[in-house]
Amino acid sequence: MTTLGMSEPARMVATEDPLWWRTAVIYQVYPRSFADADGDGVGDLRGIADRLESLAELGVDALWLCPFYTSPQTDGGYDVADYCDVDPVFGTLADFDDLLDRAHGLGLRVIIDIVPNHSSDQHAWFRAALAAAPGSPARDRYLFRDGTGSDGSAPPNNWQSTFGGQAWTQLPDGQWYFHMFDATQPDLNWRDPGVRSSFRQILRFWLHRGVDGFRVDVAHGMIKAEGMPDYHPQDLIGRFGVDPGVILTKEGPNPPYMLQDGVHDIWREWRAVLAEYGDDRVLCAEAWVEPLSHLARWVRPDEMHQAFNFSFLETPWDASSLRQVIDDSISAFGSVGAPSTWVLSNHDVVRHASRLGLVQQPAPGDGLGPRTASGLDPELGLRRAGAASLLMLALPGSAYLYQGEELGLPEVVDLPDDARRDPSWFRTGGVRYGRDGCRVPLPWEGTEPAFGFSRTGASWLPQPREWSALARDRQRGVAGSTLELYRSALALRREHGLGGGTVTWLPGYPPDVVALRNNGVTVLANTGSRAVERPGGRLLAGSGPGAPGVLAGDTTVWLLEE
Ligand code: NOJ
Repeated sequence: MTTLGMSEPARMVATEDPLWWRTAVIYQVYPRSFADADGDGVGDLRGIADRLESLAELGVDALWLCPFYTSPQTDGGYDVADYCDVDPVFGTLADFDDLLDRAHGLGLRVIIDIVPNHSSDQHAWFRAALAAAPGSPARDRYLFRDGTGSDGSAPPNNWQSTFGGQAWTQLPDGQWYFHMFDATQPDLNWRDPGVRSSFRQILRFWLHRGVDGFRVDVAHGMIKAEGMPDYHPQDLIGRFGVDPGVILTKEGPNPPYMLQDGVHDIWREWRAVLAEYGDDRVLCAEAWVEPLSHLARWVRPDEMHQAFNFSFLETPWDASSLRQVIDDSISAFGSVGAPSTWVLSNHDVVRHASRLGLVQQPAPGDGLGPRTASGLDPELGLRRAGAASLLMLALPGSAYLYQGEELGLPEVVDLPDDARRDPSWFRTGGVRYGRDGCRVPLPWEGTEPAFGFSRTGASWLPQPREWSALARDRQRGVAGSTLELYRSALALRREHGLGGGTVTWLPGYPPDVVALRNNGVTVLANTGSRAVERPGGRLLAGSGPGAPGVLAGDTTVWLLEE
């Protein structure tokens, strides 16, 4: 394991605005699939550094890098074996420093992913725990328990893994360890002071190198209920659905392995560590928690700065649901003084260019495959995706983009079974397709090997042939392309201050139209399939072609009063 030795810090972004994150557009990079400089078919840090200019040209403010740490990669790097080093498949610490420096030189901030809920089973801490006796301090870093039943051969409780199957694995010495995800991802014990101080040091290691913040994985799950009681979600579901007051997670209502009050103390501790490095570093929570009024607890003034707004992501393309979630988001986050965030796609969900073309949305993490994609209308999905993105980019707060959405990439539905890598595919015996379909390497140049992803043509997941037409160079400068829609929207968002401002709802539009004004810009999103009348005003941006005076179905426009 690398020591926490300190390097020279990187150059920082020149802008002095400590509140940059309140309005920022943050672009998510999934390193395996972004750009591969060494040609082995897996993206790497040098690949990212070499392509940074295209992100500056797109007009984003910051990047969020998914994990690039030393890892056996059983869960795409969310199984960390050394929190203070770079996996050789992605490069070296020197490559990281260079990437950070070049990004900062282009005015791009860099947030990195941190995975504190669990480590890899290959982490030195877990190996030491396996080598140590039950009850030892080394085992106390994780959640080891004796089994139940007369001979301890049954797991300590009935908790299930998010990836499918039971959440406990038994060791030859009889003890069991808990893993919310794969068996190769043992959960850390956040009641252990040693775990807490180790992570404070890990944060400092990266903050000193110059990172602008952290996206915190499973931020709602790190403390488990005292005594680890069995989970009976059915008791929380009444005749009319989930009882009021119950908090929903992706895993179910009020799971005892999530949502414990103790997590908030951790965020207060972490916030204080960030403050040692000035007032412009940020924490963003990954917490699939509903309702939004409860999620707001993660972004109280002394906790995190942001939390992903998955309620927005999960909202169907329907005007009244969208109005409701926008109102709820602004008021919930606003009640604690935080800006809302907005997000439509990421590396865990079906890309919105496909999701919005489905009759029924799959559950998060289930993915899409040949068995489940029969109702998919790709053209409709792409049209709605452009409209949804243009609506999102007009909303006050910070917006997260997922790599490839600016190209209109769809979910890849027909990956061969033997190419799939997601642990949930294996743990459910192929019942859930999992998330590989949204992780296929990006197309950069339509006629190059692997569409420019790697010079050798290697690609860890196969890219569909049709992606040639979606490659960045095929869309660059082409009016009406998804790339130019995003580029102009980001420039206009900046020019008109749409990341700030306030939403005013506009009356008098048909029910299918989301109609609002922000900072003098009228935003109309027609979620219906029929065209409606469009008022006068200069057209700043439109997600689809439209005749003057007409707002086509499944289309968003931005207008400026003349
Ligand atoms: C959430 C991450 O986004 C996902 O990709 C990962 O599998 C789980 N957390 C476990 O770390």
